[in-house]
Amino acid sequence: MRKLVILGATGSIGEQALEVVAASEELSVVGLAAGRRWERLVDQARDHGVPAIALADSEAAAAASEAWKGRVLAGEEGVRELIATSGADLVLNGMVGSAGLGPTIVALTEGIELALANKESLVVGGDLVTALAEATDTRIIPVDSEHSALFQLVRAEPPGTVERLVLTASGGPFRGRTDLSGVTREDALAHPTWDMGGRITIDSATLMNKGFEMIEAHHLFGTPYERIDVVVHPQSIVHALVHLNDGASMAHLGYPDMRVPISYALSFPERADVEVPTLDLAKVAELTFAEPDTETFPCLRLAREAGEAGGTAPCVLNAADEVAVSAFLGGRIPFTAIAEVVERTLEALPAVTPGHFEDLYAVDAEARERARELIQAAGVAP
Ligand SMILES: NC(=O)c1ccc[n+]([C@@H]2O[C@H](COP(=O)([O-])OP(=O)(O)OC[C@H]3O[C@@H](n4cnc5c(N)ncnc54)[C@H](OP(=O)(O)O)[C@@H]3O)[C@@H](O)[C@H]2O)c1
Repeated sequence: MRKLVILGATGSIGEQALEVVAASEELSVVGLAAGRRWERLVDQARDHGVPAIALADSEAAAAASEAWKGRVLAGEEGVRELIATSGADLVLNGMVGSAGLGPTIVALTEGIELALANKESLVVGGDLVTALAEATDTRIIPVDSEHSALFQLVRAEPPGTVERLVLTASGGPFRGRTDLSGVTREDALAHPTWDMGGRITIDSATLMNKGFEMIEAHHLFGTPYERIDVVVHPQSIVHALVHLNDGASMAHLGYPDMRVPISYALSFPERADVEVPTLDLAKVAELTFAEPDTETFPCLRLAREAGEAGGTAPCVLNAADEVAVSAFLGGRIPFTAIAEVVERTLEALPAVTPGHFEDLYAVDAEARERARELIQAAGVAP
């Protein structure tokens, strides 16, 4: 039995991870954490016989303590304590946002294997996170479907033979459009192929998510940005490709279902049965590919530039995007202002090399502040 802690248990990744666990005889959950949805978290703990939970929101933790007899930890500190004290062999980080970085650091510091869905950990802290994983000899197994695909493709080849990585992008709900003014919250939340949490769904609509994934791939596989490509593939059947030195290209295919990469990460190096339909290419009939349109979707360009600038630039990119996406979802800025806020925040805070994680927290806070000021000053209505 592998003992597992799931962070972000009440979210899209967390719920699907619990489905994978329910079907497994090899995994037992020893801890669950979430932000504030305590009733759902307590239900999950009861259903899966989990002894301990943590809620980042202290009031939610207090309410959970009243309702449930198990161990309840409170606050961001409580989430960290859960990881360090639960005796886990594996942590699945399915939290959203840069709040996921702290728990990633704790898991790696404790030498607990990390199944990583929280891409922000690598976007914000890539160099320091990968250095920490190396120093503690702790494996990071990607959960993002494209990176799970790349992980499997790259592992199968001898070192030095993979020349390029290709990430596929569905293109989101606005693929093919060249004018995004007037886009509503509902339009942007209607993702054509993946059912995900709110923030990543908006990031998929702006293509920022694909930009984050380029940065994630750079850190996971040590590949320079000039050897990472993005291709739009609306069917989301091909998850990623690698081009090899002998002219061969290898691809990873499957229906878009996050339970597959989640199961892979939780079972690695084995594979477990997952009840998904076998891919029927004749039924899919058509797989199409196109260049991304970085003029209509500037976030992909901004992410590449921030990744190439390195240092604190990706941290600023993420922080500004979190604030801008939240403002868009709250009806305070139009869709097209997300990229503008991110670009202007990046211009205001040039990249420096962070010496320590503390430097990243400071830059994250500064970038959020700057992005909020920009939004307030603009005073734009959607
Ligand atoms: N969804 C997907 O298919 C998918 C695919 C690939 C990668 N990812 C990545 O996986 C991560 C999670 O995405 P998601 O779509 O599952 O998000 P989501 O549905 O919005 O869920 C986010 C989870 O994080 C929890 N959370 C928020 N702040 C927290 C904090 N400070 N401490 C502890 N938990 C906190 C939330 O708890 P409460 O709701 O209780 O507040 C919730 O359980 C993101 O980094 C995303 O980019 C997701």
